[in-house]
Amino acid sequence: MAWRTRQGIGPLLVEDLALELTTGSADETQRLGDQLGQLLQPGHVVALVGELGAGKTCLTQGIARGLGVEEPVTSPTFIMVNEYRIADGVAFYHIDCYRLDENGVAEALAIGVDELLGSDGICVVEWAERIEPLLPHEHLAVSLVYVDHTTRHLQFMASGERHIALLNGLKAQRVES
Ligand SMILES: Nc1ncnc2c1ncn2[C@@H]1O[C@H](COP(=O)(O)OP(=O)(O)OP(=O)(O)O)[C@@H](O)[C@H]1O
Ligand SMILES: [Mg+2]
Repeated sequence: MAWRTRQGIGPLLVEDLALELTTGSADETQRLGDQLGQLLQPGHVVALVGELGAGKTCLTQGIARGLGVEEPVTSPTFIMVNEYRIADGVAFYHIDCYRLDENGVAEALAIGVDELLGSDGICVVEWAERIEPLLPHEHLAVSLVYVDHTTRHLQFMASGERHIALLNGLKAQRVES
């Protein structure tokens, strides 16, 4: 894949911006989400892309656990945004763009998704490609691909200094654990 080659982007190598891994169970995907959730800070945006059943909600449930959310996290498909309060009053917004149609960006704007994405809350977006024009340039993109019944391939790609630091934190935590 082009972005995995060792091409320099300024002082950074593309490999510094990316992480690829495979999980062998839903539990493993949730544990990965938990590790990521523990590292998330106000203003971080995680953009999830992947087909139905790829594991976006599963990863988000792990992220919520890592953030300290105690309530059950279910997909907000019909209301689009679920909001949780975590430590220090920080908001965690779980946004699901699945039901947006071709006017989806306008609809998302109408309910203020752009404001959430630019806020000092923490945002995780399922079907993020459906609101691509609204995504801040700086974010962590995660592509999830169904391999087989129990296996998913995940590709992380960070844009912007804070999200590169986030991804590097995740890599470091995985080496330790
Ligand atoms: N390695 C794995 N990682 C994540 N989920 C897995 C894995 N193996 C099996 N699964 C199962 O795949 C399903 C993933 O469903 P999930 O709701 O997370 O997908 P989704 O990407 O959010 O789909 P949707 O687009 O419908 O919201 C769950 O039933 C989960 O148990
Ligand atoms: Mg989902």
